[in-house]
Amino acid sequence: DLLPLKDFLADDFPIGCAVEPAEVVGRPAELLALHFGQVTTGNQMKPDAIQPTEGVFDFTRADQIVDFAEANGMRIWGHTLLWHNQTPAWWFLDADGAPLQNTRAHQRLILDRLKAHVEAIAEHYGDRVWAWDVVNEVLDPEQTDGLRHSRWYEIFGGGKYIGEAFKIARRAFPRCVKLFVNDYNTEFPDKREAMYNLVQDLKRGRVPVDGIGHQAHVDYRRDPQLLGESIDAFKRLRVLQAVTELDVSVSDHMEESLPATPPERLVAQGWYYNELFAVLRERADDLESVTMWGLYDAVSWLRNWPVSRPHEAPLFFDDRLQAKAAYWGVVDPT
Ligand code: XIL
Repeated sequence: DLLPLKDFLADDFPIGCAVEPAEVVGRPAELLALHFGQVTTGNQMKPDAIQPTEGVFDFTRADQIVDFAEANGMRIWGHTLLWHNQTPAWWFLDADGAPLQNTRAHQRLILDRLKAHVEAIAEHYGDRVWAWDVVNEVLDPEQTDGLRHSRWYEIFGGGKYIGEAFKIARRAFPRCVKLFVNDYNTEFPDKREAMYNLVQDLKRGRVPVDGIGHQAHVDYRRDPQLLGESIDAFKRLRVLQAVTELDVSVSDHMEESLPATPPERLVAQGWYYNELFAVLRERADDLESVTMWGLYDAVSWLRNWPVSRPHEAPLFFDDRLQAKAAYWGVVDPT
């Protein structure tokens, strides 16, 4: 049998995996419990999954994952309380079905909705969920203020909703629950700077933010050292850090569909994981966990995003749940 990843990495950090209900039954569930010590709910704790209609909460699919995790002694990472995607339309509409405007009344309305949402989640899970991505992808380094101009941003005429979201979460959850700001491309200098400035501002404003999540949706040609440089830079902020959504795409830039996965890219990917985990393990003291965005290639979101790519294979295990060079890149003891 394979050496469990969580055993190999036991002295470094918990290794996590994002899953759907389909992965907590049958053979995928066995593989998951063997290798991973933490789970993230890939889609089932997003706003549209939990509150599809205002006031109607549905925890059934999230609970399937949470129950499995608890039965197997795994820690649970919650994803996500506030996002501009996968949020139901009603959230941004007034009582007449018109889009919310940049007014005090509508700001109050949308924060009341967020509060009701977060409080219902806190009542249901309490401290059973170890950490939450409170806000997801609120940054945009192309903007002068570094913030994404989402519907949330437009309604507030700025980023004030971010601090409010953390305050709402801190009041709702027990003190031990960790509150994260999560984003992608945090390894690149421009996004690194936007994240640094946001968290510094939040801390100066006494906003209760506990940590920074690096999604780390990378590709097999992106310099693995960049992520290490960001982790090092954020140490000065004195917040927790975690890698939250790691996968290593085997596609080249703007590449569409290939007939099959080029075998040499799977080898290159194995070396990539080897280098990246060396970077991460050197910084084990600064990382709360490292989470993979999926268990095996067949269920990876990259098969369908941003275009259909049947050749995508970004994870440790292949379509038949067999360990790839990616896995051996991590457990290789050299
Ligand atoms: C993705 C899921 O994996 C897909 O199944 C879904 O269709 C779209 O969202 N950044 C995030 C995640 O924070 O929530 C996204 O997950 C991937 C990118």
